[in-house]
Amino acid sequence: MKTHTLLMPLDMHLHLRDGLMLDTVAPLSAYTYSGAIVMPNLVPPVETLEDVKAYKQRIMAAVPNDFFEPYMTLFYKNYDKAFLKSVADHIIAIKLYPAGITTNSEGGVASFNIGEMRETLQTMSDLGIPLCVHGETDGFVMDREAEFMSIYELLATSFPKLKIIMEHITTKAAVEMLDKHENLYATITAHHLILTLDDVVGGMMKPHLFCKPIAKRPEDLDALLTVALEAHPKVMFGSDSAPHPKEKKESCGCAAGVFTAPISLQLLCEIFEQYDKLHNLQAFVSDNAQNIYGICAEFKEVTLEKRPFVVPETYGFVVPMYAGEIIAWAIESVD
Ligand code: NCD
Ligand code: ZN
Repeated sequence: MKTHTLLMPLDMHLHLRDGLMLDTVAPLSAYTYSGAIVMPNLVPPVETLEDVKAYKQRIMAAVPNDFFEPYMTLFYKNYDKAFLKSVADHIIAIKLYPAGITTNSEGGVASFNIGEMRETLQTMSDLGIPLCVHGETDGFVMDREAEFMSIYELLATSFPKLKIIMEHITTKAAVEMLDKHENLYATITAHHLILTLDDVVGGMMKPHLFCKPIAKRPEDLDALLTVALEAHPKVMFGSDSAPHPKEKKESCGCAAGVFTAPISLQLLCEIFEQYDKLHNLQAFVSDNAQNIYGICAEFKEVTLEKRPFVVPETYGFVVPMYAGEIIAWAIESVD
């Protein structure tokens, strides 16, 4: 049986939610990942030091052991210097959402006025706090990410020492930005290395594959695969696993988000093996992130085995990607 071992897998973009949902999904990530960057788009969002500390405690209480590090984030607002200094040691990054662009982002940035954002972004740059960005405009759905490239350029050139992470990129345009600015990095999900828009709405509509940003064209998929499979040093894995209750997905007005946490490593093995690039997966799923963020995660050794695995229909009240279907790799052991 073919096996593959990964050391200290990291998920650099994860939604854990709160309450019963947190209790349902956090153990699933904590089982195979050493750590994850936890998104702050709760209701209300994580935006004070007290919020960060309390949410981290709730996450730790929801995972069965201590071998999982939740890397905390704040929801971007124009914070002042004194506040940023007080919170810097407790967060790994600040997450910026354009207002209203995705789930729970109503309090995000309404207009990219660099003058108004300068104190926050310059202080983040000085303190070494990276800026994670949901890069979509409110334009036509297939063009939103490509249209956002001019904002990435503006941010990258206005704050050349600020580390800016283009989150969950889905386009060739975003891939091409990576080498244009030294301070731009990116995360890529597992599902965006598999899907195009065709998989979501080309046949029967698949609510469990619907997310923001929406999966794009074949040429975009090819561009994403190129940088992921070579483990481009500015690219990291971030699942964007975004659980919603089953009834919120299987309804008119389907919530955006694909729930992949319990199967993401298995899917990555399948993709990388298919292209004969398994040797690059360690960098994509851990080493690059450790270098970019300067972190050293909890020790974890995860061995996967190439054998058919039937994805459960549900995890609690959440339906995963590929529910009830067979995937090619399974988790064999975690040490
Ligand atoms: C995310 C969520 O549900 O919080 N949804 C999604 O489609 N990815 C938010 C986000 O990352 O856009
Ligand atoms: Zn997300």
